[in-house]
Amino acid sequence: MTLIQMSNVGKRYGNIVALHDISLRVNAGEITCVLGDNGAGKSTLIKIMSGLHHHDSGEMLVDGEPTRFGSPREALDRGIATVYQDLAVVALMPVWRNFFLGSELRRGPFKVLDIDTMRATTRSELARMGIHLNDVEQPIGQLSGGERQCVAIARAIHFGARVLILDEPTAALGVKQSGVVLKYVAAARDAGLGVVFITHNPHHAYLVGDHFILLNRGRMRLDCKRAEISLDDLTREMAGGDELTALTHELQRT
Ligand SMILES: Nc1ncnc2c1ncn2[C@@H]1O[C@H](COP(=O)(O)OP(=O)(O)OP(=O)(O)O)[C@@H](O)[C@H]1O
Ligand SMILES: [Mg+2]
Repeated sequence: MTLIQMSNVGKRYGNIVALHDISLRVNAGEITCVLGDNGAGKSTLIKIMSGLHHHDSGEMLVDGEPTRFGSPREALDRGIATVYQDLAVVALMPVWRNFFLGSELRRGPFKVLDIDTMRATTRSELARMGIHLNDVEQPIGQLSGGERQCVAIARAIHFGARVLILDEPTAALGVKQSGVVLKYVAAARDAGLGVVFITHNPHHAYLVGDHFILLNRGRMRLDCKRAEISLDDLTREMAGGDELTALTHELQRT
């Protein structure tokens, strides 16, 4: 099932053409990897899906309807959740508070915060996804980068996301932590979400991706399914082939 479809989408910032003629689909139960160098247009693309920016040409269909979100809240209400690299977490607040930030549970006639339920739910939701924290009372700033990404993903799933957009979730992580996050990304796909996974790393993309889109200066350079490309070819395409070979020669000491 197609959740988001973009057709010939374009976006400019003044004179800069950030996106030109982009077409793609985000399908339920699939991981679509968006790859490309710095400035290729990856973040711009997902900001259109998540309601931070508008496209200025082409069309975006969400559940088959032409859509232009007025705000990130509107996108979220349609089930499109975005986890940014610099996570919007309040470092000093406990894990459970961050989990329920903006969607706090309340109880009774005086609408007091239902702290016990929020704590227990946070603990069980994280455990369900395989994260066992010693203490959900811990400030979230004390968790590792990978754990914070996992909490943000678990939160999106708990609040009913159908599309999960991840902007370079493994960029700042080591090998082991990247592995934990990638397993988590795969779990979101297996739970039926449509995942958009932005990364610079072809290995990470190939470990989990079903579909690969490569952007180059705002244009689509590659659009293929997993069965249509090998990891080697994906890596070569990303490196710009000849450019990398030339650089290798240039840097080699004689
Ligand atoms: N708010 C903005 N105003 C003006 N230009 C912008 C703005 N945001 C992005 N750009 C420009 O648009 C182009 C695409 O930027 P974008 O952030 O989408 O790239 P990216 O692929 O996410 O790069 P990175 O890998 O570095 O995150 C770049 O040339 C960038 O300088
Ligand atoms: Mg970016």
